[in-house]
Amino acid sequence: MSALAGKTALVTGASRGIGRGIAQKLAQDGAVVAVHFREDERAAEGTLRAIRDSGGRAFAIRADLGAPGGVESLYAQFDTGAARHGTGSGLDVLVNNAGVSGSARIDEVTPELFDRIFAVNTKSLVFMAQRALKRMPDGGRIINVSSAAARIAYPESCVYSMSKGAVDTFTLALAKEVGARAITVNSVRPGFVETDMNAGKRRTKEAAAELASWSVFDRLGQPSDVADIVAFLASESSRWITGQCIDASGGSRL
Ligand SMILES: NC(=O)c1ccc[n+]([C@@H]2O[C@H](COP(=O)([O-])OP(=O)(O)OC[C@H]3O[C@@H](n4cnc5c(N)ncnc54)[C@H](OP(=O)(O)O)[C@@H]3O)[C@@H](O)[C@H]2O)c1
Repeated sequence: MSALAGKTALVTGASRGIGRGIAQKLAQDGAVVAVHFREDERAAEGTLRAIRDSGGRAFAIRADLGAPGGVESLYAQFDTGAARHGTGSGLDVLVNNAGVSGSARIDEVTPELFDRIFAVNTKSLVFMAQRALKRMPDGGRIINVSSAAARIAYPESCVYSMSKGAVDTFTLALAKEVGARAITVNSVRPGFVETDMNAGKRRTKEAAAELASWSVFDRLGQPSDVADIVAFLASESSRWITGQCIDASGGSRL
């Protein structure tokens, strides 16, 4: 039987990049997947198509997690979509993946940049988890997509790194809070993955090679590299792991 048969999963930021890879993998493993996006409807349709073409089940949800009311709007749509797909409003697996970058060294940081990054990467994730827990049965899974930047000094994006460090701290506290319900909470820390998020940083062959060289495997990560780790954490096989930050960076800067 498929690892996630009969389960419902919600992946934020699943229209593109790592989130799309995670949504496809969880659907392949048997889950009905809520594919969340902010504005790129065409890309979200691409994720749905890829899932359905492989025999999976999914529906889309649109919400801006950096705007007031975004989390509430997202869950209202989730409940409707899940009911339509016959899965009730239960949520077995939440993957908090949506995120924004923001290159800025300390002398370039502005209050607006700080608020924008924290609103999406950190604040919304807390309230996504809070509301997920009202819908989650015992044995559920919460997986937060953090970053290797929480481990490796990256002054080029100091506020972004902070926003992910806070995610890892929240992961630890929440894991203890919900342990009695056999719910696990973990974060994964990707290194450089070939997505739109860092396209600007690898415009030339030399720049791409430099980013690849961070990994001991001397290549950029692909969304599927991260998705396979998330799928393990979403599965029953990971039941004894909680409160952990799992490196998903191909051994970057070991
Ligand atoms: N790529 C990397 O090298 C890397 C490394 C470490 C960690 N990460 C983390 O991995 C996660 C995914 O990154 P990625 O590279 O796949 O990013 P991406 O390709 O830029 O995709 C970002 C996703 O997040 C959604 N999103 C952006 N702003 C949002 C908002 N305000 N409200 C709701 N959704 C929003 C986007 O929706 P739309 O398509 O509608 O815009 C999209 O689905 C992020 O948390 C990121 O910090 C990435």
